[in-house]
Amino acid sequence: MCGIIGYVGKKKSALSFIVEGLKCLEYRGYDSAGIAYVDDENIKIVKSEGQISNLETKLNMNVESSIGIGHTRWATHGIPNEINSHPHRSGSITLVHNGIIENYMEIKDELGKEGKKFLSDTDSEVAACLIDSLFEKTKDMKEAILLFKKKVKGSYAIALMVDEDTSKIYVIKNLSPLIIGLGSDENFIASDVPAILKWTKQYVTLSDGEFAIVDDKNIDLYDIDGVEKEVLVKTFSGDASSIDKGEYEHFMLKEIHEEPEVIKTLISEYLMEDNLSSLPNLRNYKNVTIVACGSAYHAGLVGKHFIENNLDIPVSVELASEFKYKKLFINDEDVVIAISQSGETADTLAAVKIAKSLKAHTIGIVNVKESSIAREVDEVIYTLAGSEIAVATTKAYLSQIVLLLLISIQDMNLVEWKKELSSLPVKIEKLINEENLYKKIASEVKDRDDIFFIGRQIDYAICLEGSLKLKEISYIHSEAYAAGELKHGTISLISQDTPVFAVITDEIIAEKTISNIKEVKSRGARIFLVISEDIYIPEEVYDFVVVIPNALKSIVSIMSVIPLQMISYEVAKLRGCSIDKPRNLAKSVTVE
Ligand code: F6R
Repeated sequence: MCGIIGYVGKKKSALSFIVEGLKCLEYRGYDSAGIAYVDDENIKIVKSEGQISNLETKLNMNVESSIGIGHTRWATHGIPNEINSHPHRSGSITLVHNGIIENYMEIKDELGKEGKKFLSDTDSEVAACLIDSLFEKTKDMKEAILLFKKKVKGSYAIALMVDEDTSKIYVIKNLSPLIIGLGSDENFIASDVPAILKWTKQYVTLSDGEFAIVDDKNIDLYDIDGVEKEVLVKTFSGDASSIDKGEYEHFMLKEIHEEPEVIKTLISEYLMEDNLSSLPNLRNYKNVTIVACGSAYHAGLVGKHFIENNLDIPVSVELASEFKYKKLFINDEDVVIAISQSGETADTLAAVKIAKSLKAHTIGIVNVKESSIAREVDEVIYTLAGSEIAVATTKAYLSQIVLLLLISIQDMNLVEWKKELSSLPVKIEKLINEENLYKKIASEVKDRDDIFFIGRQIDYAICLEGSLKLKEISYIHSEAYAAGELKHGTISLISQDTPVFAVITDEIIAEKTISNIKEVKSRGARIFLVISEDIYIPEEVYDFVVVIPNALKSIVSIMSVIPLQMISYEVAKLRGCSIDKPRNLAKSVTVE
């Protein structure tokens, strides 16, 4: 979702830095981009709809500027066009904003009565106008920012410049991610750490309600009440090289190919080092609730099966966007596990805050280090999947389910698990390499309008993820159903040649799912089967089959998602879709 980047210093061209930084933020999803920079003491703004390359053609890169801010916008208020894109300017304030100002209409009305005019439909321009109005009255930026924070409701990460002193960038943060990168005689502003890793690994995070004034030498940080506080510098310890596509055509394909390595890392970190006891013991809590969104929610559904079957304790899995509004029966005896790749998903973060307010113990299963959720929870477990750039998650989802499995097997006999999990990376690699089969299946389904996925129990959870993967990147409508539910309505949608993917990894429910497959097959469906090697199914029941190698049941379930990821990729490729950046989607969903 929207990205912010900023530069102040004389060591680089601000314009080049910001353009490059915007490209690093592209993966978050955007539909327009813009830059404000200082040229000869004046703030200039250049914006453009669509790709960053459109913006580049409008910029004169020869301008020597030493300060500027840039933005990639993912439309929330107002259509994606040049006027609505950032930076926004009002009076002497020029700003870029991520998040949502919830009471912007009310503030807009008030400012309208003061005679202020607006060009765009955005809440961000209202924020610029409000700060300008407060600065006009107080003649003091710090005072204006404190009053602004009191007045607005909602989420915001803001970077702004003011005409009266063009040597500084002001940053304000509440519920939207923002960091400050440290250089020597130069400083950087960004929505996330990967955007600045090429230049520095040192950065400062702001807590909600805080603001900072940044120039080329100093970072003055202020707490929620405007009292100056100590700047704590953190050092990023991850691998910056993963932000490159390397030999692969798409990040998604690269990230799928990284899955064996991700599993190796998790196993050696938690299992081989006998570190399982460093993972939380869920038996210590009365109730276990998992909250997450999208694929992370699907990972939670898989984890529910692992935890319930292996630890014998019940688990509820909640969509974070619903959790906030429902009646909750959570208290200090319970644990709430938030799963999030980015660690920035606004709904999941809000759910964590609610769980904390109810005194539950909160655990984050998070990929991005030092992200908002990682910082907010009582206990964080990193999924160690490395940077994931493709909007559609693959390796991070896999790392989440493997970690949930590891949490669930702590008090089991580990000898067999160690053996089985050690052979998982090789098995996954083999599955990934069945490219020709996936291409063949993809060519069979690429022109269909509707595709169905069916499975029972954990296979249903895997189907939900397979269906999401397919629809989000190929734009083919697809739904996942618990196989037994089909005849309660959905089966009316099955007609001649309708593709149905069926997943069967659990022998106990295999016979029942096979019956459901026969029901749709006899109504003309074409069956694409993903099945465990040790489950027998008569050949006439399916049209194509992907066989998952023998392993312990939970491990077969984990492997079964790989063909679904690969098939989605191949379908999207055949349809010429924008695989890494599907339309309308964002990698970090930082608004609720
Ligand atoms: C789908 C996908 C999304 C995310 C969801 C939550 O491929 O990536 O559904 O899973 O937006 O994001 P995180 O995990 O960052 O909280």
